[in-house]
Amino acid sequence: MSLQNKNILLCITGSIASYKSVDLYRRLKKEGANVKIIVSASAGKFISPYIFESFGEEVFSDDAFKSPLSHIALSKFADVILIAPATYNTINKLAAGIADTLITLTVAASPDKIKVLVPAMNPNMFANKILKDNLNKLAKHNFYVVSPGTGNAACGDFGEGKFPEIEDIICDIEPVFKEKTLKGKRVLVTAGATREYLDPVRFMSNGSSGKMGISLANEAIKAGAEVTLIALNIDMPHKYINRRIKIINRSGFSDFKEALLTEFKKCDTLFMAAAVSDYGFKEKSPVKIKKSGNAGAGGILNVELIQNEDLLKAVSEIKKEGQTVFGFAAETDSIIENGRKKLSEKSLDYIFINDVSKDIIGGDENEGFLINKAGEIKRFEREPKASLAEKIIRDIAAQ
Ligand SMILES: Cc1cc2nc3c(=O)[nH]c(=O)nc-3n(C[C@H](O)[C@H](O)[C@H](O)COP(=O)(O)O)c2cc1C
Repeated sequence: MSLQNKNILLCITGSIASYKSVDLYRRLKKEGANVKIIVSASAGKFISPYIFESFGEEVFSDDAFKSPLSHIALSKFADVILIAPATYNTINKLAAGIADTLITLTVAASPDKIKVLVPAMNPNMFANKILKDNLNKLAKHNFYVVSPGTGNAACGDFGEGKFPEIEDIICDIEPVFKEKTLKGKRVLVTAGATREYLDPVRFMSNGSSGKMGISLANEAIKAGAEVTLIALNIDMPHKYINRRIKIINRSGFSDFKEALLTEFKKCDTLFMAAAVSDYGFKEKSPVKIKKSGNAGAGGILNVELIQNEDLLKAVSEIKKEGQTVFGFAAETDSIIENGRKKLSEKSLDYIFINDVSKDIIGGDENEGFLINKAGEIKRFEREPKASLAEKIIRDIAAQ
């Protein structure tokens, strides 16, 4: 649970989306957070504080004079002040330094605390230059803004301003608690599996889901890096990918190679977690190969495969001073020996090597060995890919 024992002060202001804060509250609790709640006077018109009280929470009304000094106590409690939804009114008041409600007063008493704003409003209000200027101003003062979703507002207007998906909010809060060990670094991650087409409908691929690469990309974002993910046919809903990650979707070997070599020039660290096909079809039929008339004796259809270029090697050849290349390899036998060989042949800085005979491909867990340039080996026992990625990122940042 990513927010285990974190103290979150959930401040709910008066939007048509105020009711969504109930789901957000439940999700924060599920993640292990301790939550205290302030409901603004306007929010109280949209949702009843009784909802939270029935979950056993003490709810603070937005009247600072009802419980004197609660703004100080609440500020001391909070690791993060989460204002969700955050109205046009409250955002602009905060930017002006106004402190006339319990929410704004608590924020005023918390200059060093991280504040997360989840704006939710009509698209025209969200596009208002006054709001934009004030959000930019707040961003310089420990405020972190979760981008709203795009869609139809309650009034029917279409545009940006919707309360985001709960998953997106959680994704954006988690990084707040991480040490920014990769701040200023540009990380490129590749994930998923290439597809090599035989004809317009049939392809050769492998069972890589992209989960390991996505976990690394998410952890790199949490550690403060700027992250680009080249996603190859990934089998994971995009809601599990942090929204701050720039995603480049590719499918076949040649498109992937072009994107990889272009993006590699811009990064400090490459995690090559994608499973790239070692072979492609020598010829691709422009039309679907029919069942009848193509197979030879015994129903055998012969196709020729041709070896693809080794992209890790290609990358290592253009690698500049200061760049780090982290490779992954899947082996079924002599895994340490093969890992060492690949590390040196491809001039890698690290290789994570796993034994795919252990039912790892496509799953949620991974295990294996991390070998560095100096030949040091570290064993990682089986664990969820997300926590393994966290450890790998920590190790890399510490080097
Ligand atoms: C029906 C209705 C819906 C509203 N929805 C929103 C909204 O989605 N976002 C917003 O910023 N303000 C919205 N407002 C306006 C705020 O409720 C109003 O500015 C209020 O003063 C906010 O107070 P607070 O920021 O202290 O909660 C709405 C008002 C009404 C009457």
